[in-house]
Amino acid sequence: MAGKREKFGGRMAVILAMAGSAIGLGNIWRFPYMVGEHGGAAFVIIYVLATLLISLPVFLAEVMIGRRSHSNARDAFARLSRQHPFWRRVGYLSIIIPLMIVSYYSVIGGWSVEYFFKACSFSFSEMAPEAASSLFVNFVSSSWMPVLMHLVFLAASVGVVAGGVRAGIEKFSKITLPLLFLLIVVILIYSVTLPGAAAGVQYLLHPDWSELTPRTFAYAMGQSFFSLSLGMGAIITYGSYVKKEENILVTSTGTAISDLLFAILAGFAIMPAVFAAGIEPGAGPGLIFQSVPFVFAKMGVEVPLISSLVAIVFFLAIIVAAMTSCISLVEVGVSFLMERAHLTRGRACVLLFVVCGGVGTLCSLSFGPLAGVQVAGMSLFDLMDWVCSNILLLVMALLAVVFAGFILPRRVVHDEFTSHGRYHFNDRIFPVVWFLIKWVAPIAVVIIFFTNFIL
Ligand code: TRP
Repeated sequence: MAGKREKFGGRMAVILAMAGSAIGLGNIWRFPYMVGEHGGAAFVIIYVLATLLISLPVFLAEVMIGRRSHSNARDAFARLSRQHPFWRRVGYLSIIIPLMIVSYYSVIGGWSVEYFFKACSFSFSEMAPEAASSLFVNFVSSSWMPVLMHLVFLAASVGVVAGGVRAGIEKFSKITLPLLFLLIVVILIYSVTLPGAAAGVQYLLHPDWSELTPRTFAYAMGQSFFSLSLGMGAIITYGSYVKKEENILVTSTGTAISDLLFAILAGFAIMPAVFAAGIEPGAGPGLIFQSVPFVFAKMGVEVPLISSLVAIVFFLAIIVAAMTSCISLVEVGVSFLMERAHLTRGRACVLLFVVCGGVGTLCSLSFGPLAGVQVAGMSLFDLMDWVCSNILLLVMALLAVVFAGFILPRRVVHDEFTSHGRYHFNDRIFPVVWFLIKWVAPIAVVIIFFTNFIL
């Protein structure tokens, strides 16, 4: 049975597939606004450290669990623990988390769709730069448009999962992802030359440690997990497609570094524009939708045609990046409903559309008419995101490293990490990796998890 599973072609194919899952709204939309809300450069530094010391070991653990078990996230824990009742249940969490994320991720996907349409009608290149941020505020508070766009985005993603044109979308993303990278560099160059942009660069380079709170750690680690698609079975599943002889240290580090780079580039593209436009860095989830149009509007004064073109392609690329992520998250729920509840693919898709569409609608309205509905000082959208990123992802990631560090025998982890002794360098650094997986990552996650609540 295991032999029938498809395998990724070569090393580059593995890195590209994993980076494709990792790079999405998490890098372009979420990272910059997290930086703005949690203290600028200090957050960036902690984020980088968290990625290298905690997320990378978790990533390796998930790849190893996947490759060893040859199965999806839910069955992986069950199989490798020989059907231990606790680990059999753990898999369910990895069904619920993706569905919660789909609900609010597609709200942001919807905003991108709206901005794509706006770009197509040359709205940005022809508007006064000062109007950029009020455009966003008017849009999100207008209640029904964002809800409609959210449903359009969700329907398209669920439709792809139902209709199976997925391979097409994913091929398309191989073009749009590098394009997005390129356009971010273009925006970055333009953005740092805007008058007043220097303050934004300063903000990213000079840590103000007084801004640091214990919670910053929780948000930085949550961001890192979210961005690397950890803690929800995605990397376990990808791991199961990796060949036995592949060097997972190289593929994992490659993925983590490209994800990190993408986020940091996005930060340097957005923050200077935020300062140049006089937007508050802590403005929240709308940050890129306020600052990027400002850049396009400024550019529009000088080179209207180029500005419009860049805007159109930029938002299209964001939609595709968001859609590939959304598709893989929806697929988790659909395959579960098909196998366990014996629903047909079509019915499972309809059910998920209704549930995620409903929850997402509430999240979307929390930027407008439902803004007053707050739980612990958070809007519904912020609450959903907080519960997922700062709680559930941490719990799942913790379970994965504990599983690799304490349930799997050291010999098995060593075999996986070195591809059965094939890679000498991996063999030499194994004690360090083992120490990170077994002690550093779990203890750090537990400490950070609790500071979330206590401090
Ligand atoms: N990592 C993706 C991003 O940065 C979002 C994401 C989180 C994801 N978990 C996932 C994508 C699981 C695919 C599968 O936007």
